Amino acid sequence: MRISLEQQVAVVTGASSGIGAGAARALAAAGAAVVVNYNRQAEPAQALAAQINQSGGRALAIGADVSREDDVERLFAQALDAFGHLDILVANSGLQKDAAISDMTLEQWNTVIGVNLTGQFLCARAALRIFNRQGVRAGVSRAAGKIIHMSSVHQLIPWAGHVNYAASKGGVEMLMRSLAQEVSHQRIRINGIAPGAIRTAINRAATEGDAEQALLKLIPYGRVGDVEDVANAVVWLASDASDYVVGSTLFIDGGMSLYPEFKDNG
Ligand code: BGC
Repeated sequence: MRISLEQQVAVVTGASSGIGAGAARALAAAGAAVVVNYNRQAEPAQALAAQINQSGGRALAIGADVSREDDVERLFAQALDAFGHLDILVANSGLQKDAAISDMTLEQWNTVIGVNLTGQFLCARAALRIFNRQGVRAGVSRAAGKIIHMSSVHQLIPWAGHVNYAASKGGVEMLMRSLAQEVSHQRIRINGIAPGAIRTAINRAATEGDAEQALLKLIPYGRVGDVEDVANAVVWLASDASDYVVGSTLFIDGGMSLYPEFKDNG
């Protein structure tokens, strides 16, 4: 199976680092023109876009805070101006503001819900409006558009000390499934990816040294994930190779969601 996303345009939010950057790189390598969205980290996003352009792809870095409606509207308008169409949204921007519940501030709660959940709503709405105007682009893809919601194993696994993050990802799951139910008849495919522990900046502390050994006890497959593990799945979910996959979450977690601590217990 050779996957080609030639003539397709993708917006990847939160693409200045981590899973988002990996997804942008992989989509571009598969032939898509890519909008590399960033919020604060302009430099690495511009460097990534430049790299993609130099290696024969098409990319543009656009700054926008996905939790702000006006930013999101401008992001999608600029994407259309630059590339003329939109076929794929990877709603990926996410952050953590960890705290024990009695210390968690309303600001920490609101920031995480704002970026991780409201941000995915705003981006999905903007993309869906465009997909509907465009319809199916014959010869380009069987679907009128594809959205991939980046979730987490914590849409399923409760996470003490991270209730804002786990609540946001639980929300992402039902946002994704409800949207899929609402718009599939328009030939729009909505799916989610739930990564486990992937080696990125968001969990550097948990994936190095002694902490890594403790973390590996939670991963039956015995290794921390790489960005490419997730990026490859993004490309597949964005392509016609997954055309009959609708409203699903793909767990990419080395088995973390199998509750390995129950293996010899319970
Ligand atoms: C979080 C990481 C964490 C992983 C597994 C991810 O969603 O962002 O910090 O290591 O889940 O717990």
